[in-house]
Order: sequence, then structure tokens, then C-alpha cells
Amino acid sequence: MSKKRGGNRKRTSPDTQDTILSDQKKKRSRKQRDQSIPNFVKMEILDNREASSTQQIKEEEIEKEPFKNQKQDTDKIYTPLDIKTEETEEKEQKEEEEEEEPVKRPEDDDKEELTFEVLTNDGKLQTLEYLLQLKNIFSGELPRMPKNYIARLVFDRHHQALMMFKQPRRDLPEHERPKTKKRVIGGITFRPVNAERFIEIAFCAVTSLEQRRGYGRVLMNNLKSYCQQCRWMRFLTYADNFAVTYFEKLGFSKTITMDESRYLGYIKDYTEATVMECMLHPRIDYLHIPVMIEKQREAVFDRMKEVDSSHSIFDAHETRQRILGKILNQMKNSEDSWPFLKPVTLEEAPDYYDVIKNPMDLQTMEEKLKADRYQTIDQFVDDMMLIFKNCRSFNRKSSVYYHCANECEKQFKLFMNRLR
Ligand code: COA
Repeated sequence: MSKKRGGNRKRTSPDTQDTILSDQKKKRSRKQRDQSIPNFVKMEILDNREASSTQQIKEEEIEKEPFKNQKQDTDKIYTPLDIKTEETEEKEQKEEEEEEEPVKRPEDDDKEELTFEVLTNDGKLQTLEYLLQLKNIFSGELPRMPKNYIARLVFDRHHQALMMFKQPRRDLPEHERPKTKKRVIGGITFRPVNAERFIEIAFCAVTSLEQRRGYGRVLMNNLKSYCQQCRWMRFLTYADNFAVTYFEKLGFSKTITMDESRYLGYIKDYTEATVMECMLHPRIDYLHIPVMIEKQREAVFDRMKEVDSSHSIFDAHETRQRILGKILNQMKNSEDSWPFLKPVTLEEAPDYYDVIKNPMDLQTMEEKLKADRYQTIDQFVDDMMLIFKNCRSFNRKSSVYYHCANECEKQFKLFMNRLR
């Protein structure tokens, strides 16, 4: 019996058709995704699936003699990378870049947040995707480093990576979140040397569009905080000569306090790079440095207040009144000021007010001071000098009054000089 064309096909309900279509879609997207993952990553996945038993043996060996094996492993496991040519890698990178990305708009900046995570190559697809993004950043930002060498270390299981992600802020309601997706914008690949309790920083970079915005600082401070918890209290790195200042600003120094024999052979030596060290302090909260500095400033200020009163800011007006009052009293108490204590009376000198048109005396000055009529020290000085000038105008040079005016003037100038 001949079969009708398609006669043995089962009729499918719309629901089943949907399922088939979505299965086909899934297959296609899995295929696309697999194509977008470079070969060496795929080989990594195979490694994880098929070579788990050998890996287990290796891990047992590493446990016994961690350091020795770490060094050997780095060179051994990832040889598939070495057979990839730079050309294929560049092509793959270009393809990745051409992948459709949601457009990031400037106004999205405050709608996105930074998050941090430490990842190691655990063979999971998501981890591999993120490590791949980080590898691409390193390749772009460190052009003098061979790409396959970067990849080898980034995917090496004894290296860890502190990843810096940018993603839509999670505290925003769904409809306000930008369409951008979680992506790696920088990171640090490092290898802990447990035996000596230090880490070696292999690569550190922030993607070029996000540089010089403080992210490099935040990234390093996050690494410090993480390593503090792991009790890896020392960082060593061969800093690219262009980045020495960056490392210095983040607390690294060219002076290495660690004995050379303890790190030589453990960390990789690069040309045109400077070995630098940073020691962590167990009590510094590296994630809240500005808050900590503010607290320290307050503590220092409080301590200063205990030993010194210069922190008090006097009321300028009150201070001036107090000082002028003191000078006035000193003048009143002078043995030569008796002719100037009160206004001259008509009994004392009937024609005085015909000659002296602007009379002045210490009592009047005191009243003016109490009435707050001296707005400047100069006004006070002018009145005092007027007393002496009037006296010298009205009296003869040989008189006792004239002598008193000269003596009082000398004393007054002395007080004023002390004040200044
Ligand atoms: N040279 C001199 N100073 C630098 C610098 C550089 N290349 N990069 C950053 N700085 C300074 C900044 O001026 C800033 O100092 P300030 O706070 O006194 O203004 C401080 O370092 C922190 O800057 P920040 O904005 O947080 O750094 P960043 O986000 O630009 O990241 C790098 C710094 C080095 C990680 C980044 O520029 C980068 O990826 N460079 C290319 C890769 C590289 O050289 N990596 C280091 C060797 S592995």
C-alpha cells in the first residue's frame, strides 16, 4: 500500500505545534549560542564533562601539594587555546561585538548600578560567558599581552576573577528599569598563593568607555575587602608602566617588604612592568573608606578641642567691645589721665567750647562704647587721639595738661601696638 504523501504524519493540535515550534526555537538558539562561544570555551565545557575523573585526580594532587601543581596546571590544562590562531580569535571577538546589544542611553546612567562577584571557571555556561566578557576587556585594554595568554589565565581554574558588572538598578520598579542587560565592565584576575598568604594580580582593567570615572578605585577596594575576608593580606603585581600611578593611588608601593625568596617563581615576570606590593590592614573597611576618613577627622578634631581652644570662633563684635573696654579702663587708671576723665566744665575753662568745637573725654568714650557706637577700632582710636589733640590746642606747651596729653598718648599707642 502506497502511503499518501504525509499520510503518516500525525495531526497536531495548535498547543502541540507551539511546543514543537518553541522546541525548534530552543534548539536554534542553543545552536546560535554554541556558535557564539569560541572553541576553546566549548572545549573547556567538554573538559568539564568528560574529563571530570582526571580532574578529580588532579584536584586530589593539588590538595596534597597545592602550589607545585598550581604552577604546572596553569600551563597544562588549557593547551587547546594555544592551537587557536590570533586571527580566528579576532574574528570571533568581532562577531561578539556585532551581537545585538540594547542601546545604552546617557540618562540610563543613574538607573544602573555596579555589582561585584568573584568567579572561578566552574564550567557553568553563565560563568564562562562572563569570563569571556572579561577576557575581551583585558585583550582590548592590554594590547601588549598575547590574547591566548590572557585567555589561558582568565579561564584557569586556579585563578579567580573579581568581576565588576553594570546592570539596571534592582530597586527600581520594572517599568522604570533601562533595557540594558547585566554586563561586565571591568575586573581583576588574580591567583591566591595560599602558602604565603598573598595574591598575585595578573590583570586588572576597566572597559575604555568607563575609565576615569572612579570605577578602577571601587574595583580594587572591593578586591581588598574580599581578600581581607580570605585573610590574603598582601597583593603583589607586575604593574604595567602606564598604570603605576593608578596602583600607587590605590596604596601599592614599589618597595617590596616581602622577602624575594617567598614570591620569586610564584609570580610571573613581565618586561616593561614594575613589581609592586600592597599590604592590607585588618581593621580598614575598604568598602567605606570616605565614611572612615570622616570619622577619623572628627576624632582628631575632638582630641584637638581637648588640648587647644583655637577651635572656638569668637563673636567678632563681642571681642572688639571687650578689648576696647579693657583699653579704656587702662587709660582711666593711668596717673596722667586725670584731666581727661570727664568733659571740661565752663567753671574750669569758660571759653573752652569757643575754641574746641569737637570736645571729647574718657567718660564720653565709655558711654559711646556701651551704646555700641564704635563700629570699628579706628573710630575708637580717632576719639582717643581727639582728646590729646584738643588738649594740646587749648593749653600751652609748658602746661601740665599738655604734658599729660603727651604721656597718655604714648601709653595709648603702646596698648594699641600690643593689641595688633
Ligand atoms: N595613569 C595615571 N593615573 C591613573 C591611571 C593611569 N593610567 N588610571 C587611573 N589613574 C588614577 C586616576 O586619576 C585616579 O586618581 P584620583 O582619584 O587622584 O583622580 C585613580 O587612579 C583612580 O582612577 P579610576 O578612575 O578609579 O581608574 P579607572 O576606572 O580609569 O581604572 C585602570 C584604572 C588602570 C584599571 C584603567 O585605566 C584601565 O583599565 N587601564 C588599562 C589597563 C591597565 O593598564 N591595567 C593595569 C595593569 S594590569
